[in-house]
Order: sequence, then C-alpha cells, then structure tokens
Amino acid sequence: MNDAYAVELRDVVKQFGDVIAVNHVSLQIKDGEFFSLLGPSGCGKTTTLRMIAGFEMPTSGAIFIHGEQQGYRPPNKRPVNTVFQNYALFPHMTVAENIAFGMEMRQVPKDEIQRRVDEALAMVRLAGMGNRKPKQLSGGQQQRIALARALVNRPEVLLLDEPLGALDLKLRKAMQIELKALQEEVGITFIYVTHDQEEALTMSDRIAVMNNGVVHQVGDPESIYEHPADRFVADFIGETNFIPVRVVSLSPEIVVALDTGQQVVAGWAEEGLSVGDKAVLSIRPEKMDLLEPKEMPKSPSQQMAYVKGKVTHLVYVGADTRHTVVLGDGSEIVVRLQNSYIGEEPWEIGEETIVTWNAAHARILKE
Ligand SMILES: Nc1ncnc2c1ncn2[C@@H]1O[C@H](COP(=O)(O)OP(=O)(O)OP(=O)(O)O)[C@@H](O)[C@H]1O
Ligand SMILES: [Mg+2]
Repeated sequence: MNDAYAVELRDVVKQFGDVIAVNHVSLQIKDGEFFSLLGPSGCGKTTTLRMIAGFEMPTSGAIFIHGEQQGYRPPNKRPVNTVFQNYALFPHMTVAENIAFGMEMRQVPKDEIQRRVDEALAMVRLAGMGNRKPKQLSGGQQQRIALARALVNRPEVLLLDEPLGALDLKLRKAMQIELKALQEEVGITFIYVTHDQEEALTMSDRIAVMNNGVVHQVGDPESIYEHPADRFVADFIGETNFIPVRVVSLSPEIVVALDTGQQVVAGWAEEGLSVGDKAVLSIRPEKMDLLEPKEMPKSPSQQMAYVKGKVTHLVYVGADTRHTVVLGDGSEIVVRLQNSYIGEEPWEIGEETIVTWNAAHARILKE
C-alpha cells in the first residue's frame, strides 16, 4: 500500500451537466498537513471536498486516501469526517448528546462514549460544558462543538468547508488561531475550504489556489504571496499593481518597456512569454517606495527600478497609507507606506514623485 499521502487526487474532473465544476485537478496532501483550498465563489472548492468525502463521485480521475483508491465507497466507509459551513447542532439535545450522537448510532459502549465526549470537549477547550444546550453557547462555542463532534470519531482526515464563515471578524480571527493550534495538537490532516485569502495565509501549511475548477498554484503561504505563478493568483491574493509593459528581453536579464518607453528590469517572468509580447509587471504596493525628485541618485543601480508620477490620492488605513500615483501614460500605481512618522514628511496630493522598487520584486506575467 502506498501511504505517502493522506489524500491524493489524480486528474479529477467533475461535471454537472454543462458545468465543469472541477477541471483536471491533481493534488497531493501530506499526512498531518493543514491544507487549504482557496478561491472565489463557484471555483469548485466544495465540490472537491465533497468528492473526497464521498458525497459526490468524480466524472473521471481517481481519489486515494492513504494510498487506497476510494472508488464508489460511501461517505461512512471513508476515514474522513466533514465539518460543514452550516454546522447543524440538534437544539433539543445537550452538547454532550450532540457529540455522542454518531457513537450512539454505532452502538459504542456507554463508558467509552462518556470518555471520548470528555476528551473531545477538552480538546476544543469546552470541558464542563457538556450539559448545556446549544443555544446557551456563543457562536464560536457552537462552532467548536461542531468540531468536537467531528473529532470524536477520530478521523484520519478532517474536511472543513468554511467552518468559520458564520462568525464575526474578531471571533473568526481568534478561532483561526485556536483551530490551527488544535490541528497541530491532534496531528490530524485538515483539508480546509475558504474564500478568505487572509484566513488561508494565516492557517495553512500549504494552499491550493483555484479558479473556474482549475488549480492555479499550490504552495506554502509565503511562496503563494511572494511568488504568485500567474495573474489570477497575484490578483486574488493580496493587493497587486499591474503595470502594462512589453517584453524587451528575457535573457540574460528580464527587461520590459513601460508605455512611456522607459525600460526596467524584473526578477522573474512567467513561462511562455516571448520577446515582443504584451505583458504586465506585477508588484506589491508594500514593495515600493516614493522619492522626491531631488532625492533621486545620479546613477541609480541596475536593481533600482523607477518611474515618475504624481500623487493623486491618499487613503489613511491605520498602520499604513495607500498612495495612488498616476504615471505619464495615465496608468496608476498604489504604494503603501508605513505610518512610522520617523523623519518622513507626509506626501501631499499633487506632488511630483518618483516611484521606486527593487527590480527583483517585480514579476512579469501574461496579461
Ligand atoms: N449539484 C450541482 N448541480 C449543478 N451544478 C453544481 C452543483 N454543485 C455545484 N455546482 C456548480 O459547480 C461549480 C462549483 O461549485 P462549488 O460549490 O464547488 O463552488 P465553491 O468554490 O464551493 O463556491 P462557494 O465559495 O460559493 O461555496 C459552480 O458553478 C456551481 O454552480
Ligand atoms: Mg462552497
């Protein structure tokens, strides 16, 4: 038996009539990993999860759990458990009865049920709350009961479909940290569906970014954010400037020309681009700086890319301020500068400025 991966999808397709919900997806999820499926509404996250759980069958392709092909095996015969977005606790039952429900059905001995319920409650830090009814608990506590109910079955893999979706922002952030800590503690493989990129970055060991049923990139949070593979990923994760360019050279150095004719170097180019192609230079707003024209070095290094512009908008967002700069060709760049207020005069609307960045941080992507 090949048990190298907790869950493996090989070239999985799911079609509903004309809709291709999941389009040739292959994934390899390691044992004990916190793995997220991230993407916009309708991209196929839930469908992927439901196929792993056995609630849907792939149109083609195969799903393996710990090396075993699942085929038509029904959900209750798979070593997985699912926590759905709308976790339905039974309102008339106590917390303990809710958690015990599955085990009662399977006729697990009474004393073992008791022990495992207590264990599960301790795991989600709700020891002693077994006698309450769900409505006597906060939203976050109810969510943790739903988790306890899934964990009590000791699944090898836990599938979670937007489990924090119903919670307010503050509780959601607190639960993200708790859930991640819990996952590390129990060592169960988590496959976590979310459309919230910050949530995925905060919690995951690795993330698969999906759109229209296709996986665009799989990687750890830092590589997804710092090295987006294509324009979709760069745009979906965080904020990105896309500056229209034309490819001038791809080796030995990557050089592109802006619409103003100015040439700048870049650190990386997407595969499949050729000299002469139209493309976009992609760079994060926090990777840029603003210089006054008089601060511009006489002979800037090759690594220092720069363009002239004028400050047109300032939006104060607490820790930093978003500066919109319009370039000579009318295109706009957003630059985020930290509000450290150390020796820096704030920029004012209408000021001439020079936007600079380290060329290594710029990525050339297909349009
Ligand atoms: N049972 C079904 N019958 C027909 N189409 C379906 C069915 N289930 C899902 N779809 C379609 O498949 C696509 C993917 O749906 P899915 O629920 O997997 O998206 P999702 O990424 O989970 O989105 P959301 O973030 O909104 O939950 C959508 O276009 C959806 O309309
Ligand atoms: Mg969904």
